[in-house]
Amino acid sequence: MLRRSSPWPRLVAAGLTAVIPLAAVPSARASTGSGAYTPGSAGLGDPYFPLAGNGGYDVAHYAVRLRFTPETRRLSATTTITARATKNLSRFDLDFSGPAISEVEVNGRRASYVRKGQELVVTPRRGLPSGKKFTVMVTYAGRPKPIKDRALGVAGWIDTEDGAVALAEPDGARSWFPANDHPRDKATFTFEVTAPEGLTVLANGEPDNSGVAGPRDGYRTSKWTMRHPMAPYLAMVAIGKFTVSRGTVGGKPNITAYDPSLAKEFKRLHSTTAKAIRWESKVFGDYPFSSTGGIADRLDVDYALETQGRPVYDTGMSDELVIVHELAHQWFGDSVGLRSWKDIWLNEGFASYAEWLYQEQHGGPSAERTFAEHYRHRAGSDFWKLKTGDPGRDGMFDWNAIYVRGAMTVHALRKEIGDKTFFTLLRTWARQNRHSTVTTKDLLALAERLSGRDLDDLFDAWLYRAAKPKP
Ligand code: ARG
Ligand code: ZN
Repeated sequence: MLRRSSPWPRLVAAGLTAVIPLAAVPSARASTGSGAYTPGSAGLGDPYFPLAGNGGYDVAHYAVRLRFTPETRRLSATTTITARATKNLSRFDLDFSGPAISEVEVNGRRASYVRKGQELVVTPRRGLPSGKKFTVMVTYAGRPKPIKDRALGVAGWIDTEDGAVALAEPDGARSWFPANDHPRDKATFTFEVTAPEGLTVLANGEPDNSGVAGPRDGYRTSKWTMRHPMAPYLAMVAIGKFTVSRGTVGGKPNITAYDPSLAKEFKRLHSTTAKAIRWESKVFGDYPFSSTGGIADRLDVDYALETQGRPVYDTGMSDELVIVHELAHQWFGDSVGLRSWKDIWLNEGFASYAEWLYQEQHGGPSAERTFAEHYRHRAGSDFWKLKTGDPGRDGMFDWNAIYVRGAMTVHALRKEIGDKTFFTLLRTWARQNRHSTVTTKDLLALAERLSGRDLDDLFDAWLYRAAKPKP
């Protein structure tokens, strides 16, 4: 049960202090949100993750402050969210599966709250008027646990031998900070992480230690800022012993780091990152963020993740093509984000196709040849079993359906519209949807506009059939 009665609806229109029957409030006041104050929804209606994200507000900024104690692996944290109500809210939800909460404040005043599964339901003292900004501060402490899923693996706060790393696709952000945890709601971020002086802290964006107090009692605070909008699942913090390299690529900082025990495997991380960013900026257009880089650590998650501006690589993920893939996601997945998880092929298909293109342009097999090899899979075989454009929640990272057939879909589109239009499409798609979110329909519309062709049948055959498309 959700607790306590919510506060009386507050009528915010100037001077209205008495409670007036809602029907009597003229709708002309809609600009400041007249009408009943009702709860925000517990999800955004994503069919794969019904509880991911929340309705009724829009986050503008997350300020995540953490203190990490390696001996106990405990976190003591305060996350402050700046958001805007999109309706009159009597209460609202955050997604949070992290450690014990000691306090929740809304607009600087204590708010009541209840935890219900992954939902943190917050009831402020006063309703939050539509269109108005508000802040939520959540204070919590304890040992965070990652989100483990049978089909999708492990994501969120991951303990390492000498620290911790947070990386969170698709819904692990809630393991370490309260969030509107859906890719549709991007926000800027600051991370202020306090850790023992002997450890290095990295995060998304750029270091910015202005206004941060100096070391105390053997602990030091490091601040990082991501000043471009970012989906919560792309938020990243890495704490531990790291060998750090700093340089620039295309005039922007390139900051890479690896666990010293991975020096041999990742010795090329820095130079390969620079090389990939240079090539991708030529093919996809201007790099969308203000710095780049990468972080390699022993995570035991068996994947790499395109955490915004600075991907994370598990041991075993050091291949040049993996780096090309994660950095291609900076354009496709991070800057151009998803409105719905079922369109995950838009992320993985384009990032995988970047690998095919990279090989084609660096003395490897042509994309056509790579395509042809996969196309040999017999009709009726498991390779064609899922729908690339709607693989189901558990199939969202299916290698064949999403990564390979996603890239094949991109290649089929290229063949249909020709190279010139195709490369214009890649750049236009990235430019027009920079720092935004998209659907497959948006891609279809743009491809049809640029090519002047009807592409419904091609999209249907490659994305919405569990069958081998005709040649
Ligand atoms: N997006 C990652 C990539 O670039 C894969 C993430 C896999 N995540 C997971 N929970 N299995 O390939
Ligand atoms: Zn990927």
